[in-house]
Formats: sequence, C-alpha cells, structure tokens
Amino acid sequence: MAHQWRGVIREYAERLPVTEATTVITLGEGGTPLVHAQKLSELTGSQVYLKVEGMNPTGSFKDRGMTMAMTAAVEAGAKAVVCASTGNTSASAAAYATAAGLKCAVLVPEGKISMGKLSQAIAHGATLLQVDGNFDNCLDIARKLGESYPVFLVNSVNPARIQGQKTGAFEVVDSLGDAPDIHVLPVGNAGNISAYWKGYKEYSAPYESATAGTLPAVSTKTPAMWGFQAAGAAPFVAGHPITEPDTIATAIRIGNPASWDTAIAARDESGGLIEAVTDEEILDAHRWLSSKEGVFVEPGSAAGVAGLIKKHAAGEVPTGKTIVITVTGHGLKDPQWALRTADGSEVQPVKVPNDVVTVATELGLDAR
Ligand code: F0G
Repeated sequence: MAHQWRGVIREYAERLPVTEATTVITLGEGGTPLVHAQKLSELTGSQVYLKVEGMNPTGSFKDRGMTMAMTAAVEAGAKAVVCASTGNTSASAAAYATAAGLKCAVLVPEGKISMGKLSQAIAHGATLLQVDGNFDNCLDIARKLGESYPVFLVNSVNPARIQGQKTGAFEVVDSLGDAPDIHVLPVGNAGNISAYWKGYKEYSAPYESATAGTLPAVSTKTPAMWGFQAAGAAPFVAGHPITEPDTIATAIRIGNPASWDTAIAARDESGGLIEAVTDEEILDAHRWLSSKEGVFVEPGSAAGVAGLIKKHAAGEVPTGKTIVITVTGHGLKDPQWALRTADGSEVQPVKVPNDVVTVATELGLDAR
C-alpha cells in the first residue's frame, strides 16, 4: 500500500527534539518533489535537481520550520504567536496557528509583500499589521514583543524553526542516495542555508538521537553550500548589514539577516560561497524555470537558479557533478511577474470571437 507522508516531525522524529508525548502540529508538510531539471542539466553538464518547496501546504519551505515552531509553542503553553515576515513566514505561521488553535499576529513591511501571501495570512485569521519600515524593523519589533509580552516568537531566530527546516537536506539525501556535490539556494534572513547545512552535517556522521540511540551516518559527504542574494539586498556580499535593502524579489528583501554567523559558518565550513544576482538575472531565471523546466516559482525563489546560470556563464560550475537547487516558494504567491515579457512590457492575452475558424487561424492551424 502506498505510504501516506506524515509530515516532517513524524517522518524524522528521531532526529528532532520531540518525544512520543509531543502533541504534533502538522499540515502534512515536506515530502516535496526533487525534480530533475533537464535544461539546466544540459546547460551545465552536471545533473541538476530542483527541490520544489512550493509544494508545501502553504506554498513555501517555511512550513518545515513552522510545524516545529508551532509544536514548541503549544508545548510551552503559549496562547499567541508572533512573527515578522516578508510574506511566506506570515502565511505559514497563520495557517499553523489555526491548526494549533492559537492566536497569530504578523508584522509585515508596508507595501512590500505580495498579494498572494497577504491574502493567506488574512484568510487564516491572523492579525496582520503593516509596519512603516522594512523586514529588519519588523523583526526588531517581533523580537521585543517576544521578550516583553506574552507572545511566542516563531521567526527563525527560534531554534525550533531551524530544526524543522533541516529536514529539507534529509529528504535530498534520501532521494539521491547521497548528498549532492553542490547545494544552491536563495539567502534572505539566512535561516534556510543554516538549516540545510545543519541537516547535511547531521546526516553525514553518526547521530546521537535523544530517543533512538546512535544512528549511523546516512551520507558519505556534505555539499558545498552556494547561497545567492539579490544585489540590492546582499549584506553577506557587502560584509555588513544594508540599511535600505531593495529588490523586486520581496521575499529576500532583507538587509540585516538574523542567522548571520551560522550562514557564514555554512559557507566557510562547506567550502561554499554567498554571492549576488541582479533583479534582471532573477527574472530571467524565473522565466527559465517556468518556460524551460515546467516549474513555476516566485521571483525570490529563482535567485539560486540565477546564481547557477551566472556561475556557469563565468565558467565556474564543474561538470559531471550532482547539484540541487532549493526553489523556495510557489509562483502563484506572486504571479504578476509571469505577465511581463523579457523587455518588461505587459502580456496581453489575445481576444477572439466565439468561432472555431477564427480560433484555428489565430493558432496557425490548417484544417485536416
Ligand atoms: N525564498 C523565499 C520564497 C522566502 O520567503 C525566503 C524568506 C527566502 C527564500 C530566504 O530564506 O530567510 O531562510 O534565508 N522569507 C522570510 C519570510 C524572510 O518572512 O517569509 P532565509
């Protein structure tokens, strides 16, 4: 009988801080497809795979961490949770808080989150406040609320979030049979690059499980972690926080990443890199994914692909390797970017009369 995926906590319980007694808050997250990217593989001469995180319950990778954070919130007896967000964390927090029966407040930068994400938080009944400031300002306030008020912080500064998100690395190894040579992903607040690196490290050595004794190593190696930021919001490339981050990829419009030290460690310990891609390169990669691979992502999610294409053009991508790119969120989150052509003009669907001959002519079809 086909196995029904049980969500990341139950699938990886022995490698997470939970016990049999834990009340698990889940919407069935994880178990996302690892899709072979045919055209990127042809381009680079390596085997390139996409970890399609838009297939999670709320359409982004945030659900992996949120199942753990909300489980921890319930365990701590919290009545309300709070987060700052560029959109996806708020959508995920709102949904999982609903599943947990908790109140949820979300702080988002005014005018800088996509309509899809905004509507998710509202639909799930969160109290949404648009802050006159950027994500970094929102996170500042959320942290202070968590410290001084009776609300539980579910941003990735909460270690439970990173624990949940590390399962992305486990799934990649479980699918491929070993770790890839390179793992590529977008970097914003830097929780995800930290989480993947933690997951890869834990899978490559014997693991002391709190509930299941010593588990053997699953992979023989760890990948080089390649992170890509939007050029207008690239503090790791600058080497210091950016006060006015700017990019069309609103998901990663972040100037002062919370997981700074762990992201630097992921880059350096793995022999990896964190570099920048322009908004134009991000939109080109966004178009590449939808039109050549059949995978629709939001712009921020295309930053990793943009980075790989850029590195390939510079002759810096090795051939004959296995490369995994996490594409972090679904294209339907922010669909407006698909309705623009490469030169920036708006796509206008062709209107036709209710008539088969005209439709056939418009499609360039001759009658049989
Ligand atoms: N991709 C998407 C679609 C995101 O929403 C985010 C972060 C990232 C990549 C970057 O991941 O922060 O772990 O480095 N979004 C957060 C949010 C900040 O509030 O939804 P990161």
